[in-house]
Amino acid sequence: MKVEVKMVTQVIKIDPKNIDKDKLSVAADALKEGKIVAFPTETVYGLGANALDSVAVEQIFKAKGRPSDNPLIVHIADKERVYELTEDISDKAAALMDKLWPGPLTLVFKKKSIIPIIITAGLDTVAVRMPDHPVARELIRLAAIPVAAPSANVSGKPSTTTAQHVLDDLDGRIDIVVDAGSSRVGLESTVLDVTVDPPMLLRPGGITPKQIEDIIGHIDIDKTILGKVNADNVPKSPGMKYKHYAPKAHVIIVKGKNINNQVMKICDLAENKKREGKKVSIFATDQTIDNYNGYEAISMGDRNKPETIASRLFSLLRESDDIGVEVILAESVDENGVGLAIMNRMVKAAGYDIIKSD
Ligand code: TXA
Ligand code: MG
Repeated sequence: MKVEVKMVTQVIKIDPKNIDKDKLSVAADALKEGKIVAFPTETVYGLGANALDSVAVEQIFKAKGRPSDNPLIVHIADKERVYELTEDISDKAAALMDKLWPGPLTLVFKKKSIIPIIITAGLDTVAVRMPDHPVARELIRLAAIPVAAPSANVSGKPSTTTAQHVLDDLDGRIDIVVDAGSSRVGLESTVLDVTVDPPMLLRPGGITPKQIEDIIGHIDIDKTILGKVNADNVPKSPGMKYKHYAPKAHVIIVKGKNINNQVMKICDLAENKKREGKKVSIFATDQTIDNYNGYEAISMGDRNKPETIASRLFSLLRESDDIGVEVILAESVDENGVGLAIMNRMVKAAGYDIIKSD
């Protein structure tokens, strides 16, 4: 009888303010040897492998259960490395790299042949990012290789923003997780295709459209970012067509300009769901939380500071699963700035189940 031996996942704790290079070298050596290593970035945790080693990269797809037609982002620690991996870097792309790297901005370029086909899922473009996290960059520098890394979650679940989330999803399926605390931004990077002019926003994230347009002028925005994906509306980024960020609970988003109407609608829905015997959790905001007395409600953060909501959203979705919530009734936020990325992730978590309140 064949007994499957489960791998033991090693946890390496690193203080981001005082990086122990000897300890981190263990993870860097593992990457060089073709192993898969989860590591922190400022957006979410990534699951890394040597980007130039197809066999190692295949392990990422296996561990996550990721569809093979969804390409990976290649992470670098120094800007100059991008020239070894890509062709035809436009002036606009160079300006963005100059101003916004390191940071939560992924750029899609024409690829060089050095990039294995498994990374790009057969596309002739490659996504590259330089993370703004000291541990991520030191790890990549020590390994001295480009590191392919999707978010370190099981495919379809919310991305991971702590090492514990990574273990919850992938313990026994990956070699190492480097633990350096919580990710600051909490949502994945912005993905911008710079092979076209004007460049096209494929996924909103930590860098806002305005931050990009302030540097290079007008960009186009893929219309599937907030709209429903169907045969007439196919997203330009392969990854955006999949069910994503989904907790076990049924998520319903209540949308409307008037916040009081949102609150009233959510109270109505909560009452109905409670009557059906469902365990309900309300995702409120600092401004509205006091209106939900008598219900299970938590605040996602401050509506006037959407980055506070971004940093907690995935954690809150995971915690709801942990306590067996069946229905999440979530307020919506303005789609300005980081709000666009928040609403993009929320509508996907809700499977486009949106109820209008005015
Ligand atoms: O913040 C992040 O971007 C995190 C951290 C770990 O860096 N990574 C991440 O990777 O979110 P992942 O694999 O979960 O999402 C990558 C997205 C997917 O939507 C994928 O389809 C898209 O980038 N992508 C990758 N390569 C592409 C390409 N050549 N053209 C268009 N989209 C691409
Ligand atoms: Mg992902």
